[in-house]
Amino acid sequence: MKQPDAKDETASEAERRRIPGRRASDTAVFDQVAFEEAFVALTDGILLTDAAGRITSANPAAFRILGEDALLDGVFEDLLLVSGATTVQDTDHLVRRAWFPREERMGVLEIVTTPLLGGRKLHTVRDVTAQAELLRLKEEFLMEVAHELRTPIAALSASLDLVFEDALTMSREELQTLAGTLRRSALRLEHLVENLLDAGSIEAGTFQVRVLPTSLRQTLSDMLALVQPMLDAKAQTLRIELATGADHVLADPRRTTQVFANLITNASKYAPEGTPVTIRAVTAGGFVRVTVADKGPGIPADEQARLFQRFFRSRNVREQAGGLGLGLSICRAIIHAQGGDISIESAPDRGTSVHFTLPKARQLAEEADIS
Ligand SMILES: Nc1ncnc2c1ncn2[C@@H]1O[C@H](COP(=O)(O)OP(=O)(O)OP(=O)(O)O)[C@@H](O)[C@H]1O
Ligand SMILES: [Mg+2]
Repeated sequence: MKQPDAKDETASEAERRRIPGRRASDTAVFDQVAFEEAFVALTDGILLTDAAGRITSANPAAFRILGEDALLDGVFEDLLLVSGATTVQDTDHLVRRAWFPREERMGVLEIVTTPLLGGRKLHTVRDVTAQAELLRLKEEFLMEVAHELRTPIAALSASLDLVFEDALTMSREELQTLAGTLRRSALRLEHLVENLLDAGSIEAGTFQVRVLPTSLRQTLSDMLALVQPMLDAKAQTLRIELATGADHVLADPRRTTQVFANLITNASKYAPEGTPVTIRAVTAGGFVRVTVADKGPGIPADEQARLFQRFFRSRNVREQAGGLGLGLSICRAIIHAQGGDISIESAPDRGTSVHFTLPKARQLAEEADIS
């Protein structure tokens, strides 16, 4: 075990005070052999440079990350330029885009430089590509949320302007149209905020459903109140076919209404004006099997496996209609939490059918009696 000598201690006193949370009394305690092992095993690259900026030591991770076979004696700064790096943020703590030659990919490097005595420097080089990507996705997501909020808010405020200026002179029909726009915009905002909150609680593991004997017919009628203005605006008709025995299910009524609202919103949003949307419910063993079908553009086969992933949006509709890509992932969380399953059947230009199952109320009650 080696203690730093008294001269080092005094000279680095000021340096120690500069680092937040570090005390002057925090002396280094290390075992030479273990330290060497750690230097070799570390996944972060560590380099030491002399007063002229030349590399005097480098661990294997530094060779791997920087991809240079001859690191020693090279000038650290030049090396980063040669590696194709550009500075993103210029402080002691640099984040640089860089080419990772051994893996043949672009990535992001974080370089932290700590001055040592006599002009020497210690550089830590870390691959932070994954964190940078996460940050980029977060920023992109925030932009998308803002964009999604802007449309209904703009419609709300334009309609309210009209109310203030012309409400007294408007005909009944004009007022009805205006009220329709106000309602649709408010519903869209409500839908968006509800989906965002649910996505957050699914991610946090706090998402819950309250399953109880529920009338499917009732949830459909609650859903209609929500989606009718949207269907009307696109002159789409909704046909509901509920088979005998398919009304009583074991489900969370509010959540089931939400599943229907999400699926009908998708059908209405992505299918053309004037097309029909159908909801069918039939009994199948201990379950009620529900299908929501539209005559929209369908979904390319290679994308179908990803539809239930958060934020995924198909390339063929992304430009045409707004959305955050949350609806289907929330529907799946609800259906699974209730003990059912959900799947999609779709073919380009042939429309989309979403199938899901809900446990039948009476059947399950009978099963419970037997056991
Ligand atoms: N009925 C449908 N017809 C065509 N494509 C669909 C249909 N339903 C879903 N999709 C595709 O699946 C993607 C994911 O749907 P989801 O409901 O999860 O998100 P969204 O509708 O884009 O946004 P959000 O529901 O969060 O407002 C959609 O972006 C769309 O590409
Ligand atoms: Mg949706």
